Parts: sequence; structure tokens; C-alpha cells
Amino acid sequence: MPTSSDSRPAGDPPPRPDSLTGQPLPGDAGRPPPVLRLQEVAAGYGAAAIVSGVSISAGPGEVVSVIGPNGAGKSTLLKAVTGRLPVMTGTVTFGSRDITNMRGHRLARMGLGFVPQTKDVFDTLTVTENLEMGGYLLTKPQLTARIEAVLSTFPALAEMRSRTASKLSGGERKMLAIARVLMLEPAVLVLDEPTSNLSPDLSRAVLRDQVRRLADSGTAVLLVEQKAFEALGVSDWAYILVAGRIEIAGPASEIVARPDIRQVFLGQSVQDATPGSPAHDLNSSPRPS
Ligand SMILES: Nc1ncnc2c1ncn2[C@@H]1O[C@H](COP(=O)(O)OP(=O)(O)OP(=O)(O)O)[C@@H](O)[C@H]1O
Ligand SMILES: [Mg+2]
Repeated sequence: MPTSSDSRPAGDPPPRPDSLTGQPLPGDAGRPPPVLRLQEVAAGYGAAAIVSGVSISAGPGEVVSVIGPNGAGKSTLLKAVTGRLPVMTGTVTFGSRDITNMRGHRLARMGLGFVPQTKDVFDTLTVTENLEMGGYLLTKPQLTARIEAVLSTFPALAEMRSRTASKLSGGERKMLAIARVLMLEPAVLVLDEPTSNLSPDLSRAVLRDQVRRLADSGTAVLLVEQKAFEALGVSDWAYILVAGRIEIAGPASEIVARPDIRQVFLGQSVQDATPGSPAHDLNSSPRPS
């Protein structure tokens, strides 16, 4: 259980998602019981709430997307979930444990990994050193084994173990950021725009080959993306965040198939919805009025 203690001895892996005990949510028929759950969360900067009334969840094996235009509050929401910003009202639970306003390092110990939108790796450290930082709770033999395991899923990184992170390409850097967080085998992985600054082809590769595969291995993935259609394509469930509030929630396949939602919330007509078209990126569309 992730709920018994956040002070696991060094080397103990976080609990796997199937040991978590969230309750199924009304209106979420067919979804796994949530491992990460937000209820009526408000968060922002100073006294001003940027997001409010946000109730979302993610269960083991799911990719759950939060999509929305620039400035909608996506990063603000993730920062609050992962202890970088205060939750003003509402609750965040991990399994059956209340983790509202718990700090990031405690969450990492419990099995909640976060890849932020920026500052996602240590620029001056090598690939291997970044991975060692990510596995800071592990014993030396475990660290060595885990680095090999993580690098086996990122063969491109394995070729450049001693390269300094600042010298990696955008795609390699993002892979390292994800790999670093995977060092502790998180039950929940929170990703803030893993495809930002990546080419369309690389974006699709990261989402399909890395993000989807992680969920298929049992991880609950909460994904924030501006590349709405690419994100929906690998997601099980999706929420559309507009001006700090969840406007739409539902199966990703249904959201992407609804022309009215596409036009109003995703700023895209059905005809536009071809991969690689400029309108494919939500950020290139006007905000809904
Ligand atoms: N440190 C800060 N202090 C005050 N306001 C902030 C701060 N960071 C973000 N904001 C404001 O909060 C709002 C939401 O920003 P946020 O970064 O959460 O949006 P986002 O949906 O992640 O956008 P993007 O898609 O561009 O990453 C914006 O109006 C932004 O200007
Ligand atoms: Mg953001």
C-alpha cells in the first residue's frame, strides 16, 4: 500500500498500482478504480485561483489526458497535484491516502513521479548522473540494475551515457527526463507536455512508444498536452480544461469522434484533423469564447 508510509527504507520499490485501493467514481463506468484522484481542487498563485472545482482521476493502466489551450491552467494544476504549489481547496488522494499539499519528495517516495514542462533534467550532469539522481532512494547495486533496466527501454540514451544533458537534443532530453523519473518505478506518472519542442514525428513516437507503453505495463499516467489529437490518440480518458475549469470529460475515443467538441473546444473541424496539419496543435487554434 502506498498509504502506510512515505518513508520507505532505501531500496524498497514503490507499491505497484494493483495494490492501491481507490473507490470507483460515479460516471466513470468501465474505468479502473482510481489510484490518483482530485476532488474539487482549486490552485493558483497568491490568493488568486487559476484552476477551481477540478475533479479528475487516473487508474492503473490508463493514460488520462488533460488538454486545453495556452494559459488554461494545466501546468498550475499539475504543480498543485505534485506538491509544487499549494492546493487552496479540495483534496488529492493517492490510493486511499490523502496527499493534499504533500511535498514533492515525499510523493516521489510514495510512487508518484512528475516530469515538469521545464527544468526536467539537470543540465550540467551526464545521462548516467541524471539517472542516479532519479534513483536516489536505491542502494548502489539496485541503482546499477535499475539504470540498465531503464536504459534498455531507451536504447538511444544508452548510447550516450556520459554525455552532459545540456548537449542532448530536445527529444533525447525529454527521454532522459522520463527515464529519470522511471528510476523509482512510479505507480503514477504525471507528465507536463512531454512533446513540447519535439517534431511531430518524435511527438508521436514519445506518446505511442513511451507513454502508452508505460500505461500498458500498469502505470497510471496523467498527461497534459497541447497536441490534443495526438494525446487523445493514446489516451483512455480525457478532460478538457478551459479557463481553469473542466468543461468536458469522457472516453478519449468519444471526445475525438464528436465534431461539436472538436470544433468548439479543440478548435478544429473534422476535415482539419489530419496528423501534421497546423491545426493539429491546440495551441495554434483560437481559444473558445
Ligand atoms: N508563477 C506564476 N505567477 C502568477 N501567475 C502565473 C504563474 N505561472 C502561471 N501563471 C498564470 O496562470 C495561468 C495558467 O498558467 P499555466 O502555466 O498553468 O497554463 P497552461 O495551461 O499550462 O499553459 P501552456 O499550455 O502555455 O503551458 C496563466 O494565466 C499564467 O499567466
Ligand atoms: Mg503548461
